[in-house]
Amino acid sequence: MTENFLTLGIETSCDETSAAVVLNGRRVLSNVIFSQVKWHEKFGGVVPEIASRQHLEAICHVTQKALDDAGIKFPDIDLVAVTCGPGLVGALLVGVSYAKGLAYVLKKPLIGVNHIEGHIFANFLESSLEPPFLCLVVSGGHSHIVYVKDYGKYEVMGRTVDDAAGEAFDKTARALGLGYPGGPLIDRIAKTGDENAISFPVAHVRGEDFSFSFSGIKSAVLNYLNQMRMKNIPIAVENVAASFQKAVVDALVEKTLAAARAKNVRTIALAGGVAANSKLRQELSARAGGDFAVNFPPAVFCTDNAAMIACAGYYRNKGGVISHMDLNAYATLSLF
Ligand code: KG4
Ligand code: ZN
Repeated sequence: MTENFLTLGIETSCDETSAAVVLNGRRVLSNVIFSQVKWHEKFGGVVPEIASRQHLEAICHVTQKALDDAGIKFPDIDLVAVTCGPGLVGALLVGVSYAKGLAYVLKKPLIGVNHIEGHIFANFLESSLEPPFLCLVVSGGHSHIVYVKDYGKYEVMGRTVDDAAGEAFDKTARALGLGYPGGPLIDRIAKTGDENAISFPVAHVRGEDFSFSFSGIKSAVLNYLNQMRMKNIPIAVENVAASFQKAVVDALVEKTLAAARAKNVRTIALAGGVAANSKLRQELSARAGGDFAVNFPPAVFCTDNAAMIACAGYYRNKGGVISHMDLNAYATLSLF
């Protein structure tokens, strides 16, 4: 692999069209993210058909801007990396088809990347972190505790058995009338609330020490809101948001620390959109104490972005993996 190796990353798995140029796997030369939130927010969530159409309209402009920002031209690219799953299949197909076309025309190698692996690799961007470490991956669609033994070598120690952590944030925000996406809105309003005002339980998964269940807390919040409304008691939205956030963060931190102790790692990393949560970052750092170093990517690399896909693609390709013109898009795709 040549020095000054340029990877073009492309990400279209959900509602962000993103393209990025990354040098030697870690240095981000550009990372363009076009958010579709204004098209989806009135529906309270992502509408798959709208997402596919918006990706189609945006992909060429977003990629050209990523190249311009990096100061390079198409022929300078050494590798095209694209998210091929998991995600919305129609949305993924836009990125996969575009990346295949580019790789074919430019006669450059193509590599399909697992979106969850991309989130984990966000920790390597602009950083000198090396495996092994434990990674808590928490996004709108996934909540996993992953032991990262080495590049591309994973052990999934636990996962959600129902809703993902981000999904719980989004559904709770909707119930509170806060809007979409809910995570950042709850994060903000919770800062003004009392997190001990209401006790919301998070269920434990019997026999699975490192797994999560978040559907119960969503129902507990809905029940609480219904009871308050029936009794005509004013609802302190900031207190509900803060108490909900505390319960979710406590469960995430407790299980992550237990998994890190079980693997005897020195470092814990955070990944995925919910890793941008200020309370989660603060609580994990505080409770890790001197036992573990805690690594958080900057917030822009936590939510969906193509720089993380370029990074994961670079390391997969360095490990000898390559994709071909039969690369497809997969709604579900495991980390192995
Ligand atoms: O990783 P991501 O951008 O997309 C998926 O792969 O799902 O994650 C999006 C999720 C949404 O559920 C959003 O509400 C949540 O991440 N999120 C947050 C914060 N920022 C984004 N959740 C809690 N606090 C935040 N600050
Ligand atoms: Zn994601």
